[in-house]
Amino acid sequence: MKGLILSGGRGTRLRPITHTSAKQLVPVANKPLLYYGIECIRDAGITDIGIVVGHTAEEIKAAVGDGSRWGVKVTYIPQSAPLGLAHAVKTAQPFLGEEPFVMYLGDNLVKDGIAPLVQEFITEKPNAEILLAHVQNPQDFGVAELEGERVVRLQEKPKQPRTDLALVGVYMFDPHIFTAIDTLKPSARGEYEITDAIQYLIENGCDVRSHIIRGWWKDTGKLEDMLEANRFVLDTLERNIQGTIDAASQVHGRVVIGAGTQIIRSEVRGPVIIGEGCHIEDAYIGPFTSVHDQTRIVHSEVEHSIILEQCSIENIEARISDSLLGRNVEVRREDRRPRVYRLMLGDNSQVSVL
Ligand code: G1P
Repeated sequence: MKGLILSGGRGTRLRPITHTSAKQLVPVANKPLLYYGIECIRDAGITDIGIVVGHTAEEIKAAVGDGSRWGVKVTYIPQSAPLGLAHAVKTAQPFLGEEPFVMYLGDNLVKDGIAPLVQEFITEKPNAEILLAHVQNPQDFGVAELEGERVVRLQEKPKQPRTDLALVGVYMFDPHIFTAIDTLKPSARGEYEITDAIQYLIENGCDVRSHIIRGWWKDTGKLEDMLEANRFVLDTLERNIQGTIDAASQVHGRVVIGAGTQIIRSEVRGPVIIGEGCHIEDAYIGPFTSVHDQTRIVHSEVEHSIILEQCSIENIEARISDSLLGRNVEVRREDRRPRVYRLMLGDNSQVSVL
């Protein structure tokens, strides 16, 4: 069995972060999202993994390398244009050959592993298996109708969903999927939809099974989704303090603090992760916050946020919440006159002031 991770896509809903960084590399609990996918597939016993890449190929290659860090072999598969999930699978056909494979969308995060499902697929040899989850907004996903475990109908983002069962971004296929993809026409959004390819399998007598997952799962398209994914993962952390905490500070609950980080006259209330080499002084770091390496937070309060590397937050009066800061961002209070907001923001930045 091979693994296929889709890591193209433009990530338009996460701009400006995705102007300079692939969305699959945005860190969740200080670890790039894509690493969770690689680990999930590796933990299912699969070591031959193809990663479909688009215009962010170089950055993804630099972050992942040859996969030896995880004990897997990674092959990069360039996709000429983001023409849909089915197009990505077709592009990967020379890599996949005749082997069954698990396809994992690189912007998804699935809590419970897929090892038992992969084993079952290998033993029972259905033609396809999809993962499903009950959701409150099925119209935003591919939606399935079932008879028992058997899938009888799939629709991509229907206006009037017939069930609340959404397609989670993990699929297993045998080579029949290539025949199905060859019949596809672009959908209303101009993409070759994997959902339509699976519907073709169903209509042509293939064995398409489903598994409803119960643990949490997130498709991280938008800022709120990233923050929610971050909450999920932070909630699973074990307390681990490597840095130094002075006597005037308090660190409560599940908190991870990396080596070389100093906490001075501050309060940290978990679940929180703070990376290495950070400086936290006269500050409050509240629940569900990830602070990446070499960041300074001084005389300021931050909660429910993701802060990337080498940021600096100083002397901010109100608490910063629900925020995502890219690398090397500075937010500081200045007392010099005139008393104005001085901003230097990239394209598509968003600022809310008091
Ligand atoms: C894609 C699939 C959709 C699936 C979703 C899961 O949607 O087309 O069927 O439910 O991934 O993350 P997209 O993220 O491309 O809108």
